[in-house]
Amino acid sequence: MVRQKATNITWHGANISKEERELAVGQKGCVIWFTGLSGSGKSTVAMRAEQMLLERGIFAYVLDGDNVRFGLNKDLGFSPADRNENIRRIGEVANLFAASGAVVLTAFISPYRADRDQARALVAEGRFIECLVDSPLALCEGRDPKGLYKKARAGIIPEFTGVSAPYEEPLKAELKVTTECTVDESAQQVLDYLEGAGLLG
Ligand code: ADX
Repeated sequence: MVRQKATNITWHGANISKEERELAVGQKGCVIWFTGLSGSGKSTVAMRAEQMLLERGIFAYVLDGDNVRFGLNKDLGFSPADRNENIRRIGEVANLFAASGAVVLTAFISPYRADRDQARALVAEGRFIECLVDSPLALCEGRDPKGLYKKARAGIIPEFTGVSAPYEEPLKAELKVTTECTVDESAQQVLDYLEGAGLLG
């Protein structure tokens, strides 16, 4: 937990309510929080779902692990403390995007349950949808799209999730997508969930 450092600051509320904003932008903001091992398909499913939402005229935006680490979180590594800070910042950013009315899709390993719950706690009730991308380690390792598992096994990359660092599966994820489905089917499952929850119209 990061302590409040700045003093003499005051929260400034908006001139319109959340409901008025949603009416004005014509959609409901929410966060779809993908979690799973490296190479499990989080970014792929998130980006396909983003595309499908945009095609339906819904403003959606993916925050992706690797990409965010090039900028906002370039000062962070993969120790438990750095991963906690990584997810804390993404949780805050995702919440801001969602408050603006966007459908935010986040694709981070986010291996610690407590970190994901911290992100969930920021977002309005019913607007945080945790989605486990449930691909077995052996499959992710077989794919090894970036050659990282190989390096992790060789001891070149320390603290690698699933190899030398833990991954804590969600206990109460709203959604689970598996490798039994195609990318399109998985992305469609996400849209179906949003539809069912009344978040798409
Ligand atoms: S998280 O654990 O803090 O949520 P994040 O999703 O931002 O991780 O970044 C994961 C990506 O960083 C992986 O997909 C992989 O490409 C890369 N990476 C580099 N080193 C590691 C590591 N030690 N453990 C996991 N992923 C790593």
